[in-house]
Amino acid sequence: MHDHLPLKDAAQQFGVKLDRLRRAAWDGRLAARRVGNQWLVAPAEVLRFLRDHGRRTEPHLGTAGQRETVMARIIAVAVPKGGTGKTTTTLNLGAALAEQGQRVLLIDFDPQGNLTQALGLRPSDLEHTAYTAIKSFLTCFEPQLALAIRPTGIGVDLVPTSARLNLANDELAVAIQREFVLQKLLAPLAAHYDFILIDTLPYLGVLVLNALVAAQEVLIPLQAEYLATESVALMLDQIQLMRRSGLNAGLSVLGILLTMVDQRTIIHREAVEYTRKVFGGQVPIFPTMVKRSVRFPESQASHQSILTYDPDGDGARAYRALAAEVLRGTT
Ligand SMILES: Nc1ncnc2c1ncn2[C@@H]1O[C@H](COP(=O)(O)OP(=O)(O)OP(=O)(O)O)[C@@H](O)[C@H]1O
Ligand SMILES: [Mg+2]
Repeated sequence: MHDHLPLKDAAQQFGVKLDRLRRAAWDGRLAARRVGNQWLVAPAEVLRFLRDHGRRTEPHLGTAGQRETVMARIIAVAVPKGGTGKTTTTLNLGAALAEQGQRVLLIDFDPQGNLTQALGLRPSDLEHTAYTAIKSFLTCFEPQLALAIRPTGIGVDLVPTSARLNLANDELAVAIQREFVLQKLLAPLAAHYDFILIDTLPYLGVLVLNALVAAQEVLIPLQAEYLATESVALMLDQIQLMRRSGLNAGLSVLGILLTMVDQRTIIHREAVEYTRKVFGGQVPIFPTMVKRSVRFPESQASHQSILTYDPDGDGARAYRALAAEVLRGTT
């Protein structure tokens, strides 16, 4: 019973109307218990109800029953270097996939919480986050990430984070099967989404390891400059290590995405050529490149995707093209 919620809280958590849950509790479609003058319900039961009876409002969680069940493609957006466009790519690729009718869940797995903030949530206001899900998993080994899922204004669902995720570094360090926690948390959600994109932090550690164990594919955003290639090499080594160690034998590189490209300068053109020369033979490089544009920071400040902030601009075109490449599976 300890994980049961009042219906009002469940309605808020899952983004559905309270009346709808109340009616379902009354007529028995939703297994809820009456305690005093309120109904209590288990989150898993709300998920089952939404799956079986469809969902009319976001989040997408629960729509699996309406389609043939397909497990989500889980993609980690990762490279151990700061400011290469990981968060921007997670957000805008997610929005572009959603625009194509895909059900998308974004996971903010970076304690900086940039993705959470770019989508208009204040980490300090959040009761349930990626961190609280890890914490409760380490205590009772029940995967309860669904509690943290929020619908957003850009057509995707989000698991937000707060700076407390930093604490998970230490807490996971002493946990059994510490690299498998995110994988376990995502497992019950995979049937509800077509894509789960994980935004990661810019250095390798137990959080990124969790993302690399949970994912099937890695998307590596690379700022078009010489020095950044070293971090891509490091990332590729890490992916090899995941495969060889058996931590994730099937992990593959979805592709390297060149970001913040400024083709007007020779130095950038050379950096792009250099990247293609160094990595082109080893791993896929997306034909699409993302140009540098002030519209990106502007769109994030106004909690929008580039697709709605500047729908006809180069940035929106690039992320739509990237989504098409990801969907086709060709890089
Ligand atoms: N194509 C672009 N053109 C111009 N600015 C961009 C572009 N892509 C991202 N930015 C901006 O660059 C900054 C860094 O981008 P972003 O936060 O996506 O990088 P990151 O890899 O997630 O960084 P961190 O490693 O700190 O998590 C942000 O202010 C973002 O708005
Ligand atoms: Mg980031």
